[in-house]
Amino acid sequence: MTRATYGVDETIRAYLLANLPPEHPLLAELREVTATMTRSRMQISPEQGHFLAFLVRLIGARRVLEVGTYTGYSSLCMALAMPSDGRIVACDMSAEWTDVAKQFWKKAGLADRIELRLGSAVDTMEALIKERQEFDFVFIDANKEDYDAYYESALRLVRPNGLIAIDNMLREGRVADPSMTQLSISAVRDLNAKIAKDERGDRVLITVGDGMMLVRLR
Ligand SMILES: C[S@@+](CC[C@H](N)C(=O)[O-])C[C@H]1O[C@@H](n2cnc3c(N)ncnc32)[C@H](O)[C@@H]1O
Repeated sequence: MTRATYGVDETIRAYLLANLPPEHPLLAELREVTATMTRSRMQISPEQGHFLAFLVRLIGARRVLEVGTYTGYSSLCMALAMPSDGRIVACDMSAEWTDVAKQFWKKAGLADRIELRLGSAVDTMEALIKERQEFDFVFIDANKEDYDAYYESALRLVRPNGLIAIDNMLREGRVADPSMTQLSISAVRDLNAKIAKDERGDRVLITVGDGMMLVRLR
């Protein structure tokens, strides 16, 4: 089951979905396929997909870095929103899950625009920094324990005025419960607090999906 926007009840969510632009048929098919797989709740929701596509168009992104690809829904949303010379570098460590992503990128005719890098995303981002790669937009949606490292690397990889979006920053409300001390929650709580004070970027935490932090590099 796809994860819905946290804190929004079923009636409002149905209204929200009914008033979004139509979902691309391949995105709908990918959600159906993913729903039969393990960990399907990791996939971003359709409203988040629309939001990512909107951001990519808004800033005219041509170079996108995705950290956490899974079966490819978010990367496909962004690739469909980019111009024909747009390129995505997609990072993940699962060949099994990203094989599904590859199938759908191919079906959409976008496979040549998306470069998959398999392995630890911390290492991949380090390699991209060494290669002096630069991105207009970085979307972070992998394991939460490494979120701070992803954020710091993203700040080095995004161009000035470029955008970083970080998913799951509410952890379904658990960040607001101090009794939740496991690293996958505390790492996100600490990063929210750090970014709130971080003058390197303009930033806003919004409630779409499971909470998304947006940082625009100054
Ligand atoms: C929340 S899912 C990404 C969902 C995806 N954005 C979508 O819309 O379907 C997180 C992904 O991060 C990957 N991942 C977890 N730990 C990782 C790591 N250390 N390095 C790279 N990828 C990792 C997992 O394999 C998983 O596919």
